[in-house]
Amino acid sequence: MKIFKEIAEIKSFLSEIKGRGMTVGLVATMGALHKGHMSLIESSKSLNDVTITSIYVNPTQFNNPLDLQKYPRTMDQDLKMLEGVGCDVVFSPTDREMYEETPLLKFDFGHLDKVMEGAFRPGHFSGVALVVAKLFGIIEPHRAYFGQKDWQQVTIIKRMVAELKFNLEVLTVPIVRDSNGLAMSSRNLRLSSNQSAEATVLYQSMQMARKRLKSGEPVESVKKAVAALFDSRAEMKLEYFELTDSKNLTSVERVNNSTELIICIAGYAGDVRLIDNMFLD
Ligand code: PAJ
Repeated sequence: MKIFKEIAEIKSFLSEIKGRGMTVGLVATMGALHKGHMSLIESSKSLNDVTITSIYVNPTQFNNPLDLQKYPRTMDQDLKMLEGVGCDVVFSPTDREMYEETPLLKFDFGHLDKVMEGAFRPGHFSGVALVVAKLFGIIEPHRAYFGQKDWQQVTIIKRMVAELKFNLEVLTVPIVRDSNGLAMSSRNLRLSSNQSAEATVLYQSMQMARKRLKSGEPVESVKKAVAALFDSRAEMKLEYFELTDSKNLTSVERVNNSTELIICIAGYAGDVRLIDNMFLD
């Protein structure tokens, strides 16, 4: 497995392998890798000659400085996992390499970055788009893999790729969960054992909500039931619960059969923020 820290080095490696006609798949991560990330890498390996995993904790997407500071960093273990899964290349740049100067560029995705995560984490998606655009510019992958876990993120990246005409395909990989339903997340490393047990309330809420919504109950009333479920867990706090059109992320008040709908949820376990989602069908 090759490890690059510098843009110039990875670019010269890439021009060599692309010159030989090889296809490249990119899996962008912030490290603290888990089985969810591994599933993205496996998907990339199945379709591309060379899979690159980037590991970079991107400061511009953190609206909360404490969250950035506390973000888990487990590089040695990450590299072992990447070796184990057969990743070909790791790109782990420094802040200086990625942000030579304080960036001036901001992204605005209209409605897409104003709702849900965008409403509670102002500036977050501008930072995500900035770093992902940089990675696409540096690596120019044929395909890029993102998890359904961050549905709003992949929706926004697809929009950016379409509008900026990046010459690559964005693929979405299903959510990998623990056996108790908790979606795998780097932030789970920060949960106490009680918080990690209580955090299953996200998955349980969505399952309950899906049933009730499908039987015609309005979102407002389901939301109350979800809030009550959260209240029954000492360390959990609900931030939002939404039923939205999966393509344009507009919220829906009641189930309709004309669009593909997705339930999106966010909450806190102590001071650890967690998100999850589930398609209605
Ligand atoms: P990170 O949280 O490390 O996630 C990297 C990728 O792994 C994302 O596409 C995310 O959706 C996916 N992922 C995380 N948990 C998953 C799970 N349980 N199942 C399936 N996929 C999962 O998302 C980011 O980093 C950053 O915002 C990034 C895109 C790298 C830009 O900095």
